[in-house]
Amino acid sequence: MSATSKGYDDDRASINLPDDKDMLSKVKQVMKDKSQLNPEYLVVIGIGGSNLGTVAVQEAVLGKFHNLLGSITRALYADTVDSDLINITVKMVEPTLERDGSIVLNVVSKAGTTTETAANFEVIVDLLRRYKKEYEKHVVVTSDEGSKLWKLALKEGFSVLEIPKRVGGRYSVFSPVSLFPLGLLGMNIESLLDGARSMRNTCINIDIGENPAAIGAAIQYQHYKSGKNISDLFLFSNDLESVGKWHRQLMAESLGKEFDKKGKRVNIGVTPTVSIGSTDLHSMAQLYLGGPYDKITTFVRVENNNSNMNVPSLEGYSELVSGIQGRSLKDIMDAILEGTKSAFRKDGRPFVEITLPDKTENSIGQFLQFKMMETIYPAYLLDVNPFDQPNVESYKSETRKILARKERY
Ligand code: PA5
Repeated sequence: MSATSKGYDDDRASINLPDDKDMLSKVKQVMKDKSQLNPEYLVVIGIGGSNLGTVAVQEAVLGKFHNLLGSITRALYADTVDSDLINITVKMVEPTLERDGSIVLNVVSKAGTTTETAANFEVIVDLLRRYKKEYEKHVVVTSDEGSKLWKLALKEGFSVLEIPKRVGGRYSVFSPVSLFPLGLLGMNIESLLDGARSMRNTCINIDIGENPAAIGAAIQYQHYKSGKNISDLFLFSNDLESVGKWHRQLMAESLGKEFDKKGKRVNIGVTPTVSIGSTDLHSMAQLYLGGPYDKITTFVRVENNNSNMNVPSLEGYSELVSGIQGRSLKDIMDAILEGTKSAFRKDGRPFVEITLPDKTENSIGQFLQFKMMETIYPAYLLDVNPFDQPNVESYKSETRKILARKERY
């Protein structure tokens, strides 16, 4: 409860993002400004916590095939320094620039010195410069105020959006990190924040029985203590796959720790995995139902999809599988999930089930907020800091040292 009264002056700062009207109005101002450019593409450059939440919400709400559906602004994400990924990104946006169309480039980096982000940023800025005299109008930088990237942005005349200092990457989905790109793509970011706020309010309830995050955390913690050190998020919705990847970072970085808060070496952590229903039943079910008893599974289903497709009743096809003709695909999906749960139950494989009413901004906002709070609570039980990631920092600084040498690899 006290975290809500401390604003951003607390490690749990992220839970107060949905209340920040000032932040929202700054984001909306930049959104308004950049949508006047009528961008055909939004290129988001950022990695890890600076991109996973955005991709997760975009795909969940707008669908994985948003770019193919005649969208006004298409979204491209440049995270890793894979030459072919960046090359195809350039190839896709260059024809737009050639005919004097517009793109918006949003570079997102909290620290402002992440190798992959800096490299990709320079490539795309170089491209913009070749086609746009006033290239600075097309660039939005989201970073910690005062970072090297921030300072460069001010020098170049790019728009800037600030990430509150104590909001870490994996907890930043309700900050400008995701709000700006999602808003520019036409999403209702107020509704996303409303969902997050209402779930936050439920999940700070000190009556544990009425607090879903505390209940979820207790279940995860208890199972971890009894040897279930893998937590699988099994999403029965194709568009939620990236929510699974977002969650993987959240759990891995928040609970995977070398030391506890007292400085004692503990080397603990829950290994998060992602499965997609029903697809992964055809690749992973053998392991899940026959392998070691080392997992707890969270099934997620969606009550109302954006469409309602039925299997027709073609003559001669009824013999293939009985009971599917005339049924909705959702009915069939639900039957598969029921069958899976029943098999899990029979074999003593523990699971939790969550039903999302739909994939609107509000519901996704609720779900992500729930997952963040559900992850913070077990860290306290395990006496580890859910907000730092010292071991991630160590590989980053080693990489910088290697790259600072001149030789090739
Ligand atoms: O959670 C984290 O801190 C990391 O995954 C970061 O989000 C990621 O490394 C990107 O860092 P930055 O936003 O500073 O570029």
